[in-house]
Amino acid sequence: MLETNIGKILIHEEVLRKRIIELAKQISVDYKDKDLVLIVVLEGAMIFFADLVREITLPPQSVLVNSIAVSSYGMGTKTSGTVKIKKDIDTDIKGRNVLLLEDIIDTGLTLKFIIEYLKEKKPASLRNCVLLNKAERREVEVDLDYVGFKIPNEFVVGYGLDCAEKYRRLRHVVALKPELYP
Ligand code: IMP
Repeated sequence: MLETNIGKILIHEEVLRKRIIELAKQISVDYKDKDLVLIVVLEGAMIFFADLVREITLPPQSVLVNSIAVSSYGMGTKTSGTVKIKKDIDTDIKGRNVLLLEDIIDTGLTLKFIIEYLKEKKPASLRNCVLLNKAERREVEVDLDYVGFKIPNEFVVGYGLDCAEKYRRLRHVVALKPELYP
């Protein structure tokens, strides 16, 4: 199936690539001479993470990688409102500089939940880096540290983002046609 049959391309892969290089440059400046633990939120942020981490120019021994998985959407396109941890981090972040990588912020419930959960583990610092910001839909306030793109209120898939686990492999960020919603 072509991207165009799935929906309109909102962000082309080349545009994603350029913005990710900019974000990585900024992160590399901000964390110069510091150790960094990157925590990727699975599964949606994994492609974003894979591209970003390789553009970071900090010494390789200074960048650790870990992951967390949460569920809030189930199989639909609307948040269930309850966030649960499906897979916890398995590294000690106490006293470390942590950067959380998330694919998209919509209502804000998921990111807020993860931030509060990780704060309890007493990192030295905790920032977030979100690829897509659907600002219109925010229900809870979350301070964003690094943002890739602000997007309109449309359900998007591709570049790691899914709808009921489908479409993640698409190279571009695509607004899913409503007739393809589950
Ligand atoms: P929030 O809790 O409403 O901010 O939603 C955040 C989570 O919902 C993200 O981690 C995504 O997994 C998922 N999500 C929100 N909007 C979209 C979308 O447009 N496409 C795919 N997943 C989305």
